[in-house]
Amino acid sequence: MSTANIYKIMDDPNSLDIDVERVRRDFPMLSQRVHGVPLVYLDNAASTHKPTLVIDAIRRVYEQDYSNIHRGVHELSQRLTMQYEEAREKIRVFLNARSRAEIVFTYGTTDSINLVAQTFGRANIGKGDEILISEMEHHSNIVPWQLLCEQTGATLKVIPFNDQGNLAMSDVEALLSERTKLVALVHVSNALGTINPIGPIIKLAHDAGAKVLVDGAQAVAHMKTDVQKSDVDFYAFSGHKVFGPTGIGVLYGKEDLLEAMPPWRGGGDMIRTVTFEKTTYADLPYKFEAGTPNIAGGIGLGAAIDYVHDIGLKHINHYENSLLAYMTRQLLNVEWLKIIGNAPCKSGAISFMIEGVHHNDLGQYIDHLGVAIRTGHHCAQPVMQHYGVTGTARASLAFYNNTQDIDRFIEALEKAKKFLL
Ligand code: ALA
Repeated sequence: MSTANIYKIMDDPNSLDIDVERVRRDFPMLSQRVHGVPLVYLDNAASTHKPTLVIDAIRRVYEQDYSNIHRGVHELSQRLTMQYEEAREKIRVFLNARSRAEIVFTYGTTDSINLVAQTFGRANIGKGDEILISEMEHHSNIVPWQLLCEQTGATLKVIPFNDQGNLAMSDVEALLSERTKLVALVHVSNALGTINPIGPIIKLAHDAGAKVLVDGAQAVAHMKTDVQKSDVDFYAFSGHKVFGPTGIGVLYGKEDLLEAMPPWRGGGDMIRTVTFEKTTYADLPYKFEAGTPNIAGGIGLGAAIDYVHDIGLKHINHYENSLLAYMTRQLLNVEWLKIIGNAPCKSGAISFMIEGVHHNDLGQYIDHLGVAIRTGHHCAQPVMQHYGVTGTARASLAFYNNTQDIDRFIEALEKAKKFLL
C-alpha cells in the first residue's frame, strides 16, 4: 500500500480500521483550542505530537529511574541502561535490522547523515569520486555532502525530478558510474510528498558499486521500513517525526560498513582503553555514541515505537493513504489553488499555492482560524527553485487527523482567499 497511486484511492477514511477518536484522545495536545477554536494540526511533516504513553515514559525516567547509563554498578544505572537498550531493540525490530549493533542513536536525521559523511565519507570518498543525490533533497541531505566534497575534492551530482515531482530511473542510470561511491536519497520528499522507489534505486546503485544512504525522516511514521528487504546500506530517521521526543534519532548501518568506519566524535562511552599513546574503541554501536546520550529521548522513542506498533503500520498506512486521497480531491476541487508536486505515489504531505496570496500571509491567516500548516521553503530550496517560487504552503498528515480536520482546512482556505485577495 505504501506506493499506492493516491489518485485512485476511493476508500472512505471514516470506514477504515483506525478508531481516530480513540487515537486523538491519546494525544493531549490535540484537544486544545488555539485562538479560541479547536486546533487542526496539519504540520506533521515538521513534527508530530506525542501520545500520553510517550510523555509518561519520559516522566518515569526522571521521576523513578533516573541516573546515568552504561557506567554505573548501582541499581538505578542498571535499570535505566536496560530500558535504553530495550529501546534500541525495539528500533531494531521496527526497521528489521539484523542486529542491535546496527542501530546507532544520534540526535536526529541531520546528525545521522553528518555521521555517515564524516566517517564513511572521509574514509571512502576522495578526489575524483562522485556522490549522487536528488534535486528533491532536504538541506540536511545536501549540505553534509557539499562539506564532504569541499574536504575531499569529490564531486556532487544531482538526479533531477520532473514537474510532477518524480525521479526518472533513466536519469539515475545515466548519472551512476564507477566513480559513484555513494547515493544519498530521500525516501519521502518533505516538500512534495513523493515516495521514491528506493528498492530499484538501491539495486541500480549496488550494481554500479555504490553504497546507498536513505533519509527516512518523512517515511518511518507512515509506512513499513524493512532495511533487510530494501538492502539499504544506511537509513536515517528522527524520533520527533514518529511521535517520539526531539533530540533523538537513529542511524541504521550494515554491520560490516559500520565496523570498518572510523569513529566520529570522541569522548566517554565510545572507547575501550585510553592512554596518551593510543586509544582503542568500543564495540558497535557505542563506537559512534560519545558522551552521555539523550537517555530519556531514547526511552521515549522506544515508547513511541510501541505505540505505532500497537496501532499497526499497515492500518496507519491504509488510513493515511485514504485521508491523503480525500485531501487531494478536496484541494483539486478548489480551482484557484495549485498543488505543487503531483506524483502518483505520495505520502501525507501536499504543497500548494494560491496565486496572488503570499504563503506566509496564508499560513498566518488560517492559523487564526485554528489551522496549523507550514509555509516557506521547507528546508528544500532547490525544490522551490525548480518551480521558480520562494516557498509554498504545505499541509501534512498523521493518523490522528480526520476528515473533519480537512474540511476545516478547506473552509479556512476559502475564507483566506476572500480576505487576502
Ligand atoms: N524538515 C521538517 C519539515 O519539513 C522540519 O518541516
